Amino acid sequence: MTQFIIKGPNLLSGEISVSGAKNAALKILPAAILADSPSTITNVPQITDIDHIIKLLESIGTKTEVSNNTVTIDPTNVTSSHPDEKLVKKLRGSIVLMGPLLAKFGRAVFSQPGGCLIGARPIDDHLDVFRQLGVDIQYKDDCYIMSGKPKPGKVVLKAMSVTATENAIMASVLSDGVTTIHIAAAEPEIADLANYLNKMGANIKGAGTHDIVVTGVKSLKGSKYEILPDRIEAGTYLLAALTTNSEVTVGPMIPEHLELVLKKLTDAGAKFEEISRNGRRYLRTIKHNGLTAQDIDTRPYPGFPTDLQSPYAVLMTQAKGDTHIFETIFEGRFRYLEELILMRAKADILNPRTFIIHGPNRLVGTEISSRDLRGGVALILAGLIANGTTIIDQAEYIDRGYERIDEKLRAIGVNIERVETKL
Ligand code: EPZ
Repeated sequence: MTQFIIKGPNLLSGEISVSGAKNAALKILPAAILADSPSTITNVPQITDIDHIIKLLESIGTKTEVSNNTVTIDPTNVTSSHPDEKLVKKLRGSIVLMGPLLAKFGRAVFSQPGGCLIGARPIDDHLDVFRQLGVDIQYKDDCYIMSGKPKPGKVVLKAMSVTATENAIMASVLSDGVTTIHIAAAEPEIADLANYLNKMGANIKGAGTHDIVVTGVKSLKGSKYEILPDRIEAGTYLLAALTTNSEVTVGPMIPEHLELVLKKLTDAGAKFEEISRNGRRYLRTIKHNGLTAQDIDTRPYPGFPTDLQSPYAVLMTQAKGDTHIFETIFEGRFRYLEELILMRAKADILNPRTFIIHGPNRLVGTEISSRDLRGGVALILAGLIANGTTIIDQAEYIDRGYERIDEKLRAIGVNIERVETKL
């Protein structure tokens, strides 16, 4: 088991680098099998979710080559439409292999995907999308058996699902007509996926809005592509800097991808300075004179991202006043609060989607457990400011989505140590 041991409180200084977006790379790598030739993807984060999706791609015959943050995907020997079931169970993100397999083979066989325990994580929206595209879906021996090439037509999404939108796009890029996708999610990672597919010869318009038009093409040619910066990682490190009231430069990043987060933080009293260097953009936090509580409700993009709800809650433990947090996306996304309360945070849970943080409060280090990726990183932020030693168990969850987070934090002055213990 992996533990992080943090001695607090810490004052940070310097510059922390932002890696490529996990939630773009997890779709762009599978999308590469839609082409007839190899692709080279750069700025891929070195995180365990990426290791999993690469193993999953190899389980259907994809040849891959990884060197640091560059991944080459050769789809020419992809033969199977039935990815390794054990791996599918390990990673919720595996679900985005369904669209490409249906487009390529007109067939996909999947066990129920797994992932972080942040709520039911149903896949009904995905199945609904494929049915609207004329795909037949049977459920047998614990597997979804999907057959039939997706047909062009109109798709309306039920819950503005990010990955269901991405599955709809990937299922339609090789169909023989026009597919319109309505009530689509508009996250920047979806536009990044569409940019990559269009670079390979696809014809996708409107990605990043709620209405997308895909005109099917005969084939796609592999291409080189650079993943965009991870807005959630960038937001997490900005929140770490503000929580410790440090001056830290974070980037490269795209501030527009965090518009509402930055607005909420400046309304709370935070100050930022934008820096441009060699065509890349960075934000630097400026020392603040104390923050005031700002309520949030998490929403689909461009609303406040659910993936920053937990790190934001930690910042609000240091703000003056009561912060109401309404989590509208996932019903199980507060499990980290129990751990924060062990560190003497003051919080009241009103219902499975709403809680109040009372601040400011001095946190005290103790032994706690990470339960999922974003809840886990919130515990690191709490450890940064807590008095004394914080030991975070099950830190494997955090390695799923943050590349070398202990090394990056040590480089800006954090007293953090990684300990691998035999169970
Ligand atoms: C993507 O998950 C991200 N994951 C999540 O990031 C992110 O939190 C989420 O979008 C919301 O922004 C990846 O891109 C790999 P949804 P996704 O489908 O697509 C319900 C992280 O920490 N829903 O947009 O799985 C669902 O329960 C991860 O990086 C259905 O009801 O999320 C949720 O309430 C966590 N049926 C809402 O829709 C479905 O079939 C939004 O989920 C699908 C979703």
